Amino acid sequence: MIGLGGSILALRDLKVSLSSMDRVISVENIYKSFGGLKALKGVSFSVKPREALGIIGPNGAGKTTLFNVITGFLRPDRGKIVYLGHDITGKKPHYLSKLGIARTFQIAKPFEDMTAIENVLIGLLFSKKRKNGFRMSIGELKKEAINVLEAVGLYYKRNSPAHQLTVVERKRLELARVLAIEPKILLLDEVMAGLSSQEVEWEVSLLKKIKEEKELTVVMIEHVMKAIMSFSDRLIVLHYGEKIAEGKPEEVAKNPEVVEAYLGGD
Ligand SMILES: Nc1ncnc2c1ncn2[C@@H]1O[C@H](COP(=O)(O)OP(=O)(O)O)[C@@H](O)[C@H]1O
Ligand SMILES: [Mg+2]
Repeated sequence: MIGLGGSILALRDLKVSLSSMDRVISVENIYKSFGGLKALKGVSFSVKPREALGIIGPNGAGKTTLFNVITGFLRPDRGKIVYLGHDITGKKPHYLSKLGIARTFQIAKPFEDMTAIENVLIGLLFSKKRKNGFRMSIGELKKEAINVLEAVGLYYKRNSPAHQLTVVERKRLELARVLAIEPKILLLDEVMAGLSSQEVEWEVSLLKKIKEEKELTVVMIEHVMKAIMSFSDRLIVLHYGEKIAEGKPEEVAKNPEVVEAYLGGD
């Protein structure tokens, strides 16, 4: 059981509420400044269960800051984050990850000398995952780690140290690390960066498959337009800390303001 601002919230309760909710997360009027720099200026949106929401916007638009606020790495100056009906504003990252909010980092930093499976195991140990109320044995955790490495297509590299992995394999390890904690909502920060066009296609189909199998809700920040257009059910566009457009990917891509702010400059 985890105390959440007065109410007590257990992970099994979250399962019940998820099926009856029309939104997994609501971001309400978020402001965040760094000194004089206003990185987020009143951003609001919500994400429905099992939706794939894409976030695009030029460098410096505030996308990563938004993820940092949602996942508790930064506290917003104003505004509210509501997760499955509970106000989680200002809660800490480790706490939110236990509630099923997982994120990848724009620059993944695995433990370089540890193998792929050890990197996943570390995350699992810290998540204090339980089965039927008991802490899982190392053997059970290892099985879980192998399952997620298989799911992301990295099983064959399970015994390789992270520093020997290619760019695409490192991205997959980062994904395996977060999938291991069985998130309800997955926030992906530029997981396609540095991949070839062929690799981007593979990653998009892999992510679609994992999303379906694990019934995940996904928010994806991405610069690779081909990836975000084919992955997302809905897109929002950030520009100088403000949401300037929202809608179906093909409509947003045609929006003149978006073309001016972002797509035109590519
Ligand atoms: N921790 C921080 N301290 C100071 N400035 C920051 C910090 N994080 C982000 N910024 C600034 O906030 C703005 C938004 O950054 P960011 O959210 O990383 O944009 P994006 O991910 O859209 O490229 C940028 O001008 C960036 O330099
Ligand atoms: Mg960023």
